[in-house]
Amino acid sequence: MITSVRLVNFKNFADETLRVGPFTVIVGANASGKSNIRDAFRFLHGVGRGYTLAESIGGKYGVGGQIEWAGIRGTMDEIIRFNQPSVLCQVEVEDFTYTIRFGRDEDRAGAFQVTEERLKHIANRIYSTQTERGDLYSLRPGDGELLLHWDKVISPSEVNNYVKVRADQPGLSQFQRKERAPDKHRPCTERVTQALGNMRFLDLDPQRMREPAFPGQTVLGDRGEHLPTVLQAICEDSQRKETLVAWISELTPMDVRDFEFPTDPSGRVHLAFLEANGRKVSAYAASDGTLRLLAMLALLLGPDPNGLYFFEEIDNGIHPARQWLLLELIQKQTAKQGFQVITTTHSPDLLTMVNDETFKNTSVVCRLEDADDAIIRPVAELPRAGELRKSQGLGNLLSGGWMETALAFTEGYDEGEAQAVGRTGRASH
Ligand SMILES: Nc1ncnc2c1ncn2[C@@H]1O[C@H](COP(=O)(O)OP(=O)(O)OP(=O)(O)O)[C@@H](O)[C@H]1O
Ligand SMILES: [Mg+2]
Repeated sequence: MITSVRLVNFKNFADETLRVGPFTVIVGANASGKSNIRDAFRFLHGVGRGYTLAESIGGKYGVGGQIEWAGIRGTMDEIIRFNQPSVLCQVEVEDFTYTIRFGRDEDRAGAFQVTEERLKHIANRIYSTQTERGDLYSLRPGDGELLLHWDKVISPSEVNNYVKVRADQPGLSQFQRKERAPDKHRPCTERVTQALGNMRFLDLDPQRMREPAFPGQTVLGDRGEHLPTVLQAICEDSQRKETLVAWISELTPMDVRDFEFPTDPSGRVHLAFLEANGRKVSAYAASDGTLRLLAMLALLLGPDPNGLYFFEEIDNGIHPARQWLLLELIQKQTAKQGFQVITTTHSPDLLTMVNDETFKNTSVVCRLEDADDAIIRPVAELPRAGELRKSQGLGNLLSGGWMETALAFTEGYDEGEAQAVGRTGRASH
């Protein structure tokens, strides 16, 4: 499980840390930096998939030119905070802390190289680009290589305790493939690589969910592809079908009672619903919100969901009454070991309904007046947040602008506003 991500000079963050729980909610104004956090997770995912920096940031294409991995939003340069030389990302995965710093390669236009990297298990070094004294960087300028040291290395002349890796690719994915790497360290790099590699970024598109799918496609695509066959697979197991139908009859009492999976002459499986009134409706005629809910149910109730799922604006297109049930299901499923969800939201209703555990893992992203950079803070740590949540509802604190005002106070801005927050729990305008 990932427990925190620190971003230094990544997009609009100077040095900020996001606390990550089983279910993490991120709120904040437009253009505050919520999707920039998603971009940071995508970058880390690229590291876990063993991509080079250029591929993680700019995109990776297959042999036929088809896109295998879409790059991070913006131009290559825009991954680094404006006017800064390098980015540092630090992620905590269970007892491991993985840190990577990279910057532009001055010798090759448009290219990036790793300038610092380390993996620790509690306080123990698994590998590091720095020697034990910490003052000797092992990057050899110009030759595009990095030395990853392990154990106690006092000086670079102790030549046995390192592996040599390419500097244009994170060492994490290279270390364990090196023969010289100590066996005892391999499971550590593998564990972190696996956690970073096991992320999904869902961007559900009802149009894609309406399309038929070939039998055997039992993994939902990031845009909701293969929904008919994914649901069909769930329905083949009577217990899972029962759970699915129970949630569906709560979530969509009018529009879905049961499923049918007609096959066309090409063998593709289509999706149709039986409505409460007995009418049959094809997925082509189903509503966007119903399809979005079905796709989320298919993901959340699929066989052993694990890893980290990132949903942008989970409330998108879903009525508040249904958001509540969806929230319940996510909170229930993420209470299980090994499954995490992160979402951004602008929905006050959703926010008001989060449970105490999710409240602890709700963060606000904010650009304070006159500041270019954004800050990330756990909402629960704002003054009187717990108390005001109880009396006014968290959603009201979001829509009334209280969070930004409280942050202006805690970050040392405008004392007058701050007093208004303390008194009323609302921003005074
Ligand atoms: N390299 C960079 N350096 C500094 N700031 C940047 C950089 N790249 C992007 N930004 C800032 O990040 C903003 C975009 O943030 P982001 O897309 O994360 O917003 P958001 O919180 O997701 O908003 P919305 O709710 O509208 O989706 C840009 O408007 C810009 O101000
Ligand atoms: Mg956004």
